[in-house]
Amino acid sequence: MLSRPTVFIETYGCQMNVSDSELMLGRLADAGYVAVDSPVGADVILLNTCAIRDHAEQRVIGRLGELRRDMKPDTVVGVTGCMAQRLGPRLLEQAKHVSLVIGPDGYRALPALVEGARQGKRMAATDFDLEEHYEDFAPRRFDKVKAWIPVQRGCDYKCTYCIVPTTRGPERSRRLADVVREVEQVVADGMSEIVLLGQTVNSWFDGSHDFGDLLRAVGAVDGIRRVRFTSPHPNDFTDRVIAAMAETPTVCEHVHLPMQSGSSRTLKRMLRRYTREGYLDCVRRMREAIPGLSLTTDVIVGFPGESDADFEETLSAVREVSFMDAFTFKFSPREGTPATRMPEHDTVPDAVASERLDRLVATVRGIAREQNLQRLGQTVEVLLEKPARRGDLLQGRTRDFRTVLVPGDAAQLGSYLTVQLTGTTGATFTGTPVAKRQPLAMVG
Ligand code: SAH
Ligand code: SF4
Ligand code: F3S
Repeated sequence: MLSRPTVFIETYGCQMNVSDSELMLGRLADAGYVAVDSPVGADVILLNTCAIRDHAEQRVIGRLGELRRDMKPDTVVGVTGCMAQRLGPRLLEQAKHVSLVIGPDGYRALPALVEGARQGKRMAATDFDLEEHYEDFAPRRFDKVKAWIPVQRGCDYKCTYCIVPTTRGPERSRRLADVVREVEQVVADGMSEIVLLGQTVNSWFDGSHDFGDLLRAVGAVDGIRRVRFTSPHPNDFTDRVIAAMAETPTVCEHVHLPMQSGSSRTLKRMLRRYTREGYLDCVRRMREAIPGLSLTTDVIVGFPGESDADFEETLSAVREVSFMDAFTFKFSPREGTPATRMPEHDTVPDAVASERLDRLVATVRGIAREQNLQRLGQTVEVLLEKPARRGDLLQGRTRDFRTVLVPGDAAQLGSYLTVQLTGTTGATFTGTPVAKRQPLAMVG
């Protein structure tokens, strides 16, 4: 009997790419491939890539070099995702051992393309397909506790630093009924947390329903206990969406709300379409509606023209919002984006950007530590997500997205525990399970 061909996928970049890898593996499994955990000896190796910063692309180039040394001579190497879309056939010229280049809208043809490559062809498939949501694919999920649910592809914003509109094309939304059907399947598969994905996920609109309707619909699916979403855009938090978050008990009290800068001048040059005040107002409206809401964010330092005063405004906004955590980045110029055409003298020297990054990171850490120290002693609900790096501990998350390490064994993964927060490193907590408190009496 012929043994079935094996495939290994390595994923870079954001959750959207993780979700796409799950779809690709599902598609290939249906076509008879067996997923393996290591590239060594695999018949097909796919790198699902990210193009967001130069560093992300350099990592992939380094990895391709390593693979060339280690792979079997007849292994098919494919590059998929955002870097594949950005570079297209150029990648085939630059890396002779790569035979497939497939952009984010090309995965339907994956089995045929891989088959062609196994017969010696070299191909690039980088057309956008505005109808494509891979509705009929059955994703092979890596995570057994929370399910990534892509609800929107592409992006219609044009932030001047960003490559995503180029790599993922125009925005489009799945239909509400299709999303709900997938969420029901997730419950049938034993999971109770979902994360809705889109580049500006709260601008989701399927022609008759808005993101508020979507939250209410998925939040009401029997068996779902936690609903999260990423990443929203501040301008798309309408009162309807905020009301749906507040009124849907399964929607968690955490929002990742990319700010990028706290300076209105810089925000304007980034074409973020809100001001510092607009951002802070969005935060205020959400906090008024949702008690206990925690916020995380993305910030870029060293954007062209960012002055010391602009950066100080970013620091002060970070303090004012009191973010629980932040992903912080040095601006990385991306070929073809408007930010690369800003005047030369606006370039922020790397040493200045590095120093700003250090100060920003220290500020974020200080705020997190202060918040976390105040929480010691509290009792919280934790969903156990994965084994912790440290030995016999499990890593869980609170509804408001804090990380808690608790003693336990792998059989408990996917279950909920009531724990008391007993210690903190400043960034994460340790906790001790406590018996769930029973209500003393029925009220009302
Ligand atoms: N769609 C999401 C962001 C996706 S990219 C949103 O609009 O919020 C994730 C983060 O990468 C961005 O929020 C931004 O902080 C950062 N980023 C994007 N382009 C960048 C660039 N050219 N240089 C540095 N950081 C960048
Ligand atoms: Fe990029 Fe802006 Fe779109 Fe986010 S909203 S993906 S930062 S263009
Ligand atoms: Fe990277 Fe593409 Fe996501 S550029 S951040 S993998 S949308």
